[in-house]
Amino acid sequence: MKNTFRLGILGSGQGSNFVAIADAITAGKIPAEIAVVVSDVESAGILTRARERQLPARFIAPGKFRTKLDEDAEREFVKVLTEAKVDLIVLAGFMRVLKGDFLRAFEGRIVNIHPSLLPSFPGLESWRQALDYGVKLAGCTVHFVDAGVDSGAIIGQQSVPVLDGDTAETLHARIHAAEHELYPQCVAALARGEISVAGRKVCWKK
Ligand code: GRF
Repeated sequence: MKNTFRLGILGSGQGSNFVAIADAITAGKIPAEIAVVVSDVESAGILTRARERQLPARFIAPGKFRTKLDEDAEREFVKVLTEAKVDLIVLAGFMRVLKGDFLRAFEGRIVNIHPSLLPSFPGLESWRQALDYGVKLAGCTVHFVDAGVDSGAIIGQQSVPVLDGDTAETLHARIHAAEHELYPQCVAALARGEISVAGRKVCWKK
């Protein structure tokens, strides 16, 4: 049977979460296909990884702002993702905040992974925030994207221990490894239609 649930994956970095999702699709663990990979960074590893897999990969110049897309860029992102007929937009290390028109175009159909147990430590370098705070459990969160920063309804979380002697690097690596397990599981559940949402409450039907 042909997979018809279509993913649009957005990233700005190396793309290890993209790889985890692509590998899970290949292994038959996610009933979906990757329709397009889009980056705001021309040299991003995620585009290279996508092209290695013969997947459509597009760079779209983000425009003049540092932390968001400008109007033209936003329009182009929406156009490319609409033309690719994506059912779900998967943010995998996409470093810009998505705003009004983009969010409205794909309402309730955008997910992100964040390297902390939200609502603790939103924002940048959350593994370092966790280490500096002295928490004993860190982790990652997959959530729907809303107009806030790392504030949408939570789909799934995975914890990792913070060990004595951890550095920002060792803790970040442990969280990253957890992301590669959690994100494919969440995307699979979304693709299978096993996720229902009521306000902030996300339920896994099984
Ligand atoms: C991940 O740590 C994710 O939590 C954050 O950006 C990073 C992306 O890493 N949103 P990669 O490009 O998937 O390796």
